[in-house]
Amino acid sequence: MARNVVFSGIQPTGGIHIGNYFGAIKQWVTGQDDAENIFCLVDMHALTVPQDPAALRAQILETATVLLAAGIDPAKSRLFVQSDVREHGELTWYLSCVGSMGQLNRMTQFKEKSESQKGEVRVGLFTYPLLMAADILLYKTTHVPVGEDQKQHIELTRDLAQRFNATYGEVFVLPEPAIPKAGARIMGLDDPTVKMSKSAPGSYHAVRVLDSPDQIKKTVMSAQTDSGRDIRVDPARPGVTNLLAIYCAATGATPEEAEAHFASARGYGDLKKELVEILVETLRPLRERNAELSADPSTVRDILRRSAEAITPIARETVDAAKRAMGVGSG
Ligand code: AMP
Ligand code: TRP
Repeated sequence: MARNVVFSGIQPTGGIHIGNYFGAIKQWVTGQDDAENIFCLVDMHALTVPQDPAALRAQILETATVLLAAGIDPAKSRLFVQSDVREHGELTWYLSCVGSMGQLNRMTQFKEKSESQKGEVRVGLFTYPLLMAADILLYKTTHVPVGEDQKQHIELTRDLAQRFNATYGEVFVLPEPAIPKAGARIMGLDDPTVKMSKSAPGSYHAVRVLDSPDQIKKTVMSAQTDSGRDIRVDPARPGVTNLLAIYCAATGATPEEAEAHFASARGYGDLKKELVEILVETLRPLRERNAELSADPSTVRDILRRSAEAITPIARETVDAAKRAMGVGSG
């Protein structure tokens, strides 16, 4: 049987948090032995909203370092920067001539992100899902491990691939989303009604994977909860439900097991204190390894460059097949 190909991406926009970790990165790390793995720092996606060039450049390296520190193993996985492989932009154009405005108009992430843009909304923010589809389709990806928020984009990728194959012949493999049971949608600790995000203001919004034990403690202890005491999963009480979701993602417990574990707790304080300890210990190896790797940026750059070189022929082959199928090029 052909081996699975796992592809996923993350924006190198700094401040990787436990939503990214439990929703995506943890699965990338644990699945490495079972498939061909390609992980991408999607710097072209980051440009869909304003970025400072110097900061972006630094964050590409920082994000790569965090992923390696989290356990992405260059012997088992490719880790590269999107704009280093030109075929991503190239295939996006061909997909833009297959997809429709109506399809893109239905993307909820565009609606949310465009509303939060104070100035103009850039065209790239609208066509963002086509670039993401290109990322995935270039490598004949079978599985895409992501958090819940990306599901709609993967469905669009499948639709585009199907449309293309039906019109021009079989070129693309249809990918499946791989969404974790626990941790697929971690909410903000300062406001459990909004998704935890890298760009939200407020120092107590997110636990970042590189936070010190003291910062983790401050953020978790100040997490917004209601005035109840029962530690139960309850949609009417999003604060405690979110803390339990984080507990489950970190420990592997089911929601029922988590509720049973805290049945005799005296209140939310007990849950928060235990969560602080668990998060500090879960993230400790990552933080320590990150400190070591940060001292050696040339090794990290080398991994990024070698990965891009190794995968470019696969991307080239796919774009050439798409071009041939569409009838463009000098032949
Ligand atoms: P991004 O930070 O948008 O580049 O996201 C990188 C990965 O983290 C994607 O797979 C997202 O689905 C996942 N992710 C982002 N935010 C969250 C969250 N709050 N909960 C769970 N997964 C998330
Ligand atoms: N859109 C994803 C996010 O914001 C990042 C991403 C870009 C991605 N290309 C991808 C994820 C391809 C999976 C596969 O989180």
